[in-house]
Amino acid sequence: MNRRTVLVGALALTTGLALTGCSSDSRPELEVTGAFMPQPVGDMAAGFLVVKNSGGTDRLTSVSSALSDHVTIHETKNQAMRMVSSFEVPAGGELDLGRGGNHIMFMDLKKQPKQGETVSVELHFEKADPITVDVPVKETTYNPKKQ
Ligand code: CU
Repeated sequence: MNRRTVLVGALALTTGLALTGCSSDSRPELEVTGAFMPQPVGDMAAGFLVVKNSGGTDRLTSVSSALSDHVTIHETKNQAMRMVSSFEVPAGGELDLGRGGNHIMFMDLKKQPKQGETVSVELHFEKADPITVDVPVKETTYNPKKQ
């Protein structure tokens, strides 16, 4: 192998790494699955869902719904919940909102959704277009991950 071949090889390797590093700048490709809302017992409700991302990184920045004028996103740490300004939807990964963990919080409900109904919810992201999800209302104790 002469000196020139070694240099070309090194250059190709550097370019390859640079391209890989750019993947977080590509468009997010989002898909929402497994959404549900346990039937609320008071004037608050929680929403759970998974946002799958087969593209570049994004963030869930807000949620809106006709059910409530006060919809926020909460993280749960040490069994206490706290409002956050956004959640990461990692590139090639997923944002998992599930019981006992991070969730969507609906305060001051305008009506009481019942099991079998659906609640229309709009998810807003930093980069991707908003996604509207018809969230099915399940029984109050519903937890798909414990079945
Ligand atoms: Cu909460």
